[in-house]
Amino acid sequence: MSSAEVAVQIFRKLESEDFRILNIIEVAMAKWEFVPVEQIHKYAKVPLERVVYALDKLDKLNLIYRTRGAYTGYTLNYAGYDCLAINALVKAEIIVSFGQILGVGKEADVYDALSPSGERIAIKFHRLGRISFRQTRRKRGYIREHSSWLFQSHLAAEREFQAMKLVYEAGVSVPQPLSQNRHVIAMGMIEGGELSRYRDIGETSEVLQEILCNVKKAYIKANIIHADLSEYNIILQPDGHILIIDWPQAVKTDHKNAMELLERDLKNVLVFFSRKFSLELTVTEACRYVIGEAKKLPL
Ligand SMILES: Nc1ncnc2c1ncn2[C@@H]1O[C@H](COP(=O)(O)OP(=O)(O)O)[C@@H](O)[C@H]1O
Ligand SMILES: [Mg+2]
Repeated sequence: MSSAEVAVQIFRKLESEDFRILNIIEVAMAKWEFVPVEQIHKYAKVPLERVVYALDKLDKLNLIYRTRGAYTGYTLNYAGYDCLAINALVKAEIIVSFGQILGVGKEADVYDALSPSGERIAIKFHRLGRISFRQTRRKRGYIREHSSWLFQSHLAAEREFQAMKLVYEAGVSVPQPLSQNRHVIAMGMIEGGELSRYRDIGETSEVLQEILCNVKKAYIKANIIHADLSEYNIILQPDGHILIIDWPQAVKTDHKNAMELLERDLKNVLVFFSRKFSLELTVTEACRYVIGEAKKLPL
């Protein structure tokens, strides 16, 4: 079971005091790898028994992880961090309930959820630097990086949400960005599948033109380069149109490696079309079109 599945299932069992304790641990993790019980107690401002009771409950639910070394301390698990983000999205009236898991990737879990008005939306949980505690304990010198997974995945969600907002406003075909909290993004639900999965995509050259037209809009109107573009992050919808997803790596066009990253994006797409559909276009031709040096594609 992924940590998002754990979080979604037990989220309803948590009370406001549990969230408060999770939140205290989260904040203190900037300073401690394992937050001492005394510290949690200090900030909780409730009797110690209540703190210990909540910590036991959260530990049993696998939302936090306990260590007993020189002192007893706690740190968040991904599921605990997920619960904090879900709680914030529920409070902000972005979501009311969860449905199915849509995909478990290397760097994200994507879930189906319902908005208060009954619309289906997608919730993406970023997962960076996933490492098990057993590994962590064996590694030396890890303390400085102790909660880097938390900061890295938070940063990835912020970057992705910012990029999606900019390209969405520029009219690029992306899921509608709705909200972001911690390492989680809420966005419009999309239908279809990754381009990589299809043998027959209809009018091949039209699909490629549509992709490049969107890359161009992102570049010219939003000054953004995807920087992780491939057939795995392009969705072919049932109506035959495409969508570009997965934007946490996006960079601005004034980034020092902008051209290299744009060319790599284009190369990934062009190699795919050449290999699978024998449709040939050079990176130079595609690049000239995207950056506005050529009005049309020689397709
Ligand atoms: N808005 C969405 N609606 C429905 N499914 C989605 C949505 N966003 C992503 N997915 C599904 O989740 C998968 C992983 O999402 P993606 O953003 O590419 O993350 P990553 O590749 O980093 O794990 C996608 O390939 C797609 O199948
Ligand atoms: Mg992806």
